[in-house]
Amino acid sequence: AFTVALARSGHRFTVAPHEPLLERLRAEGVLPETSCEGGVCGTCLTRVLGGAIAHHDYYLSAAEQAAGDRMLVCVSRGQPGTTLVLDL
Ligand code: FES
Repeated sequence: AFTVALARSGHRFTVAPHEPLLERLRAEGVLPETSCEGGVCGTCLTRVLGGAIAHHDYYLSAAEQAAGDRMLVCVSRGQPGTTLVLDL
C-alpha cells in the first residue's frame, strides 16, 4: 500500500496493493483527463510534488522517470510504504 496526498485539497488516502490508482482517484472525486489508460498516450501526466514513484508507463523516458516529478496516473503508483504528493 502507499499513501496519496492531494496537494490542492489536502485530502489523503491509502491505496491498497492491487487497487488501481486511477479508479481510486475517481472515487475520491478527482477526475484526471485520460485517453488510453494504459500508460502510452501521456494524457494523464500529473505533476508529483513529493514521494517515490513506481513508474509503469511507456511514455516517459528513463531520464524523465528518474527525475521523479511527473507520472502517468493511469498506470503508475507510489512505492509501497511511501506517500506520494500529487498536484491534484
Ligand atoms: Fe494515456 Fe494515462 S491516459 S498515459
